[in-house]
Amino acid sequence: MLLNLDDYRRAARRQLPRVIFDFIDGGADAEDCVRRNIEDLGKVTLLPRQLRDVSSVDTSVSLFGHSWKSPVALAPTGFNGLLRPGADIVLARAADQMGTPFILSTASNVPLEQIARQANGIRWLQLYIMGGRRIAEQLIRRARNLDYSALVLTVDVAVGGHRERDVRNGMTMPFKPSLRTMLDFGLHPSWALRFMGKGPPKFANLEDPDQGSHSAELAVALGNRQMDRSMAWDNLAWLREHWDGPLLLKGILHPDDARRAVGEGVDGLIVSNHGGRQLDVVPSTIQALPGVLDAVAKAIPVLVDGGFRRGGDIAKALAMGAKAVLVGRPALWGLAVAGEAGVRNVLETFNEELSRTMALLGATQVEELSANYLNNIQK
Ligand code: FNR
Repeated sequence: MLLNLDDYRRAARRQLPRVIFDFIDGGADAEDCVRRNIEDLGKVTLLPRQLRDVSSVDTSVSLFGHSWKSPVALAPTGFNGLLRPGADIVLARAADQMGTPFILSTASNVPLEQIARQANGIRWLQLYIMGGRRIAEQLIRRARNLDYSALVLTVDVAVGGHRERDVRNGMTMPFKPSLRTMLDFGLHPSWALRFMGKGPPKFANLEDPDQGSHSAELAVALGNRQMDRSMAWDNLAWLREHWDGPLLLKGILHPDDARRAVGEGVDGLIVSNHGGRQLDVVPSTIQALPGVLDAVAKAIPVLVDGGFRRGGDIAKALAMGAKAVLVGRPALWGLAVAGEAGVRNVLETFNEELSRTMALLGATQVEELSANYLNNIQK
């Protein structure tokens, strides 16, 4: 029975070849940060308010000019095509049906035009600056013409985190399956059959780049992991010349960086440690969140991601002052287990749990979730 997100994780583990499951599940180095995200969320507790009329609970929020069904968005995840061909289209469609924003990764192997053609709803583009700024400028121009409504610049990937599971599994770029991996693929026919007639899954489709990435040049940059390490605060002005819509920074943890972002005119922040996939020594995001919120002093919306697995977790972040939460791995588990319906179910599970949590806390609107609910004794 798929009652909760942990059930989905276990089911995804059974469905997927080990190299693919580990690629999604894993984190950097000792994976301390992956664990910390979840453990620290478990330590936060909330105090309910009783005898309030909660006959109708509304989880919707309004952010960056759109109404969301609940304070949840799909986090950008790259290389989703490893799960099934056209994975990003499936994710975007499921998100649309659930009134949930979808954030398309720069490392997608479905071009942004195709997503725009096949899915409506709230679409954002996540940006990595790779292989030269001109590639980013072209991506941004395309996103603007296709009505992607916000740009998320990910700032915690100057270099790729060292994911030891991937190294051990031979999950390198370009992907070179070993005999053991091929055997593992054979043992997961429901996954393998999805690629029938489409060729094996690829990190970035170097053989036929136009079909496998946002652009041929980007596919090459992704294949070579050509991240622009010189990207710095001064370059935000360059980004602004090309994008006048909402600009969010994803991967902010330090209060001083948060303050600087506000000063630079950024429109929103995503407190993130990349789901523990980059720098292993950082705090959990729920621990870093209060410092960032203090620094921002309500000037711009602050979102958070990393380890959110229950609707109750979302209520905790919102009570602290976050405006919404992004979920990464859970959506991929839903996708692996049951495609579009699986992603919808995962989002439905989050929404139902949040709605029930709010009713039990005595809150009928998301805006009511405030510091008043925080159980400070637990600090
Ligand atoms: C990611 N993440 C990510 N972030 C980003 O900005 N661009 C990207 O391309 C990716 N790719 C990616 C792939 C996979 C498989 C995962 C699991 C994660 C990070 C992602 O946006 C988000 O920060 C975390 O996934 C949040 O943590 P949880 O919800 O997965 O615990």
